[in-house]
Amino acid sequence: MVKIILLGPPGSGKGTQAAMLCKKLSISHISTGEILRQAMFNNTELGRIAKQAIDSGQLVNDKIIIDLIKEKIYQLNEAGYLLDGFPRNILQSQSLDLNFIDAIIYLDVPDNILIERLSGRRYHPNSGRIYHIKYNPPQELGLDDITKEPLVIRDDDQLDVIQKRLIVYHQSTKDVINWYESSQSKKFIKIDGKNDKNEIFNQILNFIM
Ligand code: AP5
Repeated sequence: MVKIILLGPPGSGKGTQAAMLCKKLSISHISTGEILRQAMFNNTELGRIAKQAIDSGQLVNDKIIIDLIKEKIYQLNEAGYLLDGFPRNILQSQSLDLNFIDAIIYLDVPDNILIERLSGRRYHPNSGRIYHIKYNPPQELGLDDITKEPLVIRDDDQLDVIQKRLIVYHQSTKDVINWYESSQSKKFIKIDGKNDKNEIFNQILNFIM
């Protein structure tokens, strides 16, 4: 069973590709962002702690996130999984044993495109399904394709928060990506995330298989 790390800036298409890959490869999707959003949606203690950081574009406390990921991976035992949004800084990356990882995929997208993608994103809170008003519109305006429930704009997709998230990405997460890239590991691939989502998907599959 394949184990994948999917990295990239906010809006690079991690969630979009993760959903397609996990379906195709029958592996579990572990998205730290989605776990935290569901916790916020259900108003749990984790959700209340995460909300302050997420709404201000900052990272949630490392210990909380590392414990969360360890627990998820432990529960999955030997099954395949895709980590979406983890690791996000050097400390988080040090908690992972890369010997157990088969592929590290980096979606490279410039900031101007990220801003357009994030400001046009629409989200279905119950399922986590992702749309875009221009690039991936729902069948009916403002409604989820499956449930026909209303789509929302994520609180952290407001322009001022997007800009803060991009700063955090360039200050912390990019270091992790540079470190993986400089290791020249055959497990690492940098993919042009500006392309069409199906083209990106096929490139990732070709790399993994
Ligand atoms: P998280 O949910 O992980 O957010 P993110 O990394 O900022 O990524 P996004 O979900 O915004 O974007 P994406 O790359 O998944 O893109 P998507 O596929 O949606 O984290 C949220 C917050 O949680 C963080 O800010 C932090 O506070 C906290 N957090 C999470 N993980 C953490 C960690 N490890 N440590 C600490 N804190 C953590 O696509 C975006 C849009 O573009 C969509 O509308 C989509 O339809 C469209 N699109 C996708 N692909 C394409 C394409 N190829 N062409 C055109 N449009 C496309």
